[in-house]
Amino acid sequence: MDRFIIQGGNPLKGKIPVSGAKNAILPIMAASLLAPGKSVLSNVPNLIDLKSMAHLLRIIGARVETGEGRMQIDSTDVCYCEAPYELVSKMRASIYVLGPLLARLGEARVSFPGGCAIGTRPVDLHLKAIEKLGAEVNLEHGYIHAKAKKLKGAVIHFEKSSVGATINTLMACVKASGTTELLNAAMEPEVDVTVDFLNQMGAKITGKGTAHLVIKGVDELFPVGMEMISDRIEAGTFLIAGAMSTEPVTVTNCQPEHLEELISKLRSAGCEIIIEGNEITVNPPKKIKPVDITTLPYPGFPTDLQAQFMVLMSLAEGVSVVTETIFPDRFMHVSELNRLQANISLNLNIATVKGVKELGGAEIMATDLRASAALVLAGIKAQGETIINRIYHIDRGYDRIEEKLNAAGARIVRDKV
Ligand code: EPZ
Repeated sequence: MDRFIIQGGNPLKGKIPVSGAKNAILPIMAASLLAPGKSVLSNVPNLIDLKSMAHLLRIIGARVETGEGRMQIDSTDVCYCEAPYELVSKMRASIYVLGPLLARLGEARVSFPGGCAIGTRPVDLHLKAIEKLGAEVNLEHGYIHAKAKKLKGAVIHFEKSSVGATINTLMACVKASGTTELLNAAMEPEVDVTVDFLNQMGAKITGKGTAHLVIKGVDELFPVGMEMISDRIEAGTFLIAGAMSTEPVTVTNCQPEHLEELISKLRSAGCEIIIEGNEITVNPPKKIKPVDITTLPYPGFPTDLQAQFMVLMSLAEGVSVVTETIFPDRFMHVSELNRLQANISLNLNIATVKGVKELGGAEIMATDLRASAALVLAGIKAQGETIINRIYHIDRGYDRIEEKLNAAGARIVRDKV
């Protein structure tokens, strides 16, 4: 298992580029199963999660070729309807094949995803929605087994805003007979881009960008090509890194319109933020002001940036409160940050962060993707050496993070253990 050895205290400066969005590419890869033929995606980073999804699509019968930021998925021969335990247990987003397989083959068997490092993560909303579309769903031997000769349009009101359930239901219903309405649908940019992809394939979805999506079923879909949006969470991670620097940092190839809430919080923390086209420059403040955040569905503050923002608040002049409402147990990074001399206390889903003058290097352990990114930011800032073990988590969602950050002045070495 690789680890990072970081010599802290070297300020970041200059440009850091952002790659394509993992959480948009994963559902779009699954959506490409809906139409026989070759779909081509560009701006695709090199990430373990995308490799796992490609592996799953190949098991199902698709041909997937990747290289030079492109991915071609040929779904002509899709014929197997099972997502096995080995893959789903590694990557929960495997659940995204449920909707497309049901729509294309009339049957799907997907291993039931368990909990993970950020807490219990149920899929009840996905299952209730496909049942409403007329699928028969059984849970047997650790698998979700869904069957439907022909799905039928329905009105589905999600009890909770869920990115995964909204996208899975969209993919299931685009070829259903009649009209489907999704109420309280998630509004994340990853949902919007999936809607764009499906509409380009020939689907008829209206209401993009709102919580009310209307889908008129079509008989046939066609493969298409599409450039992937940039990763708002990677961009946000680099902006927060810039906010902790002493020099300006420009995040390039990003979509500022997806980052409004973070930008507003960074301004409240004292940063000057300059937006020019697809670049955002952060001029860090001399003293970081404490800012409270509460994670919420988009356009609220993203849970996927909570850990990174907490690192920034660890160095603020005063006390801030971080409330996690999406995944209430998503705080595994707190004890590791405290090992780096942060002062954070936890009460259920609320963390109180008392700012300290500086962090100090130590040996720590990465627990999940975004927590790992937070620890890297903390290591860059901490005095002395920080060793982060188990950094394979970070390779799931950040393409060459150490190369990108080193090019901007960090000193991170990947130690292959
Ligand atoms: C997506 O997960 C992302 N993953 C997550 O990013 C992200 O943290 C999350 O959305 C929230 O923005 C991918 O896109 C692959 P949800 P998802 O369904 O779709 C509850 C990362 O680090 N819920 O929007 O699984 C759920 O427990 C990952 O890249 C149900 O109760 O999240 C949570 O409280 C981690 N029943 C809330 O809804 C369900 O059936 C929102 O979860 C489904 C969800």
